[in-house]
Amino acid sequence: MRHHIVAGNWKMNKNAEQTEDLLNALIDQLPQDKAVEIIVAPTFINLASAVDHLEYTNISVAAQNMHEAESGAFTGEISADMLKSIGVNTVILGHSERRTIFHETDAIIAAKVDKALQHQMRVIFCFGEELKDRKDDQHFNVVENQLRDGLFHLDKTAWESIVLAYEPVWAIGTGETASPEQAQEMHQFIRETIRKAYGSDIAEAVSILYGGSVKPDNAAEIFSKPDVDGGLIGGAALKAEDFAAIVNAI
Ligand code: 13P
Repeated sequence: MRHHIVAGNWKMNKNAEQTEDLLNALIDQLPQDKAVEIIVAPTFINLASAVDHLEYTNISVAAQNMHEAESGAFTGEISADMLKSIGVNTVILGHSERRTIFHETDAIIAAKVDKALQHQMRVIFCFGEELKDRKDDQHFNVVENQLRDGLFHLDKTAWESIVLAYEPVWAIGTGETASPEQAQEMHQFIRETIRKAYGSDIAEAVSILYGGSVKPDNAAEIFSKPDVDGGLIGGAALKAEDFAAIVNAI
């Protein structure tokens, strides 16, 4: 069901000790009483300890990626079953860094989505246009294609397990954020695209997060937009004060 979510994608940052330090600081500083779901996504090797550490808190843990196969000869990869076995029930898929640096195609991401759902995991599905797409006025087409190719093979019931994260690539780690109006315009388009494919019930029920240089000083304005249901936060999720301020901005 549509609700507010703030998720921190830690990317390839924080070793074991630093993970514990940041989790402790988050436990101290994050609000307990806000109607917002709070998620952190540390690296694979710190997921199990994060799940343990956060057991009696209002913070849950997501993985940043997983492989699309059930198991087998995939050296260096992690499966849905492995994540579930340590208590991780949410996975971020389709992040632009996975798409560009690690060459994940829409077909691979769609297979990952299917595997995650087979294991009753929730998916935070990331997508968004590059700067050249926006300059060429292709951003709506690109976003629609990513949605269609990654998710529109799903049946209606599967959408209960999908959270969307619109992350324009030109805003990720650049300090340049989409304006609140640009974010709202795209989020509205995304909801409308889902409405056309699946109907109003699903379109109104899905949470759509914005990601890309969200900081304490711009979060409130972005989150105030009607189709923005929260944020997927990179750099600012690595400092407890900043992440707490962003959660409080909801
Ligand atoms: P930044 O907040 O560092 O721009 O990263 C956003 C992001 O990629 C979250 O997944």
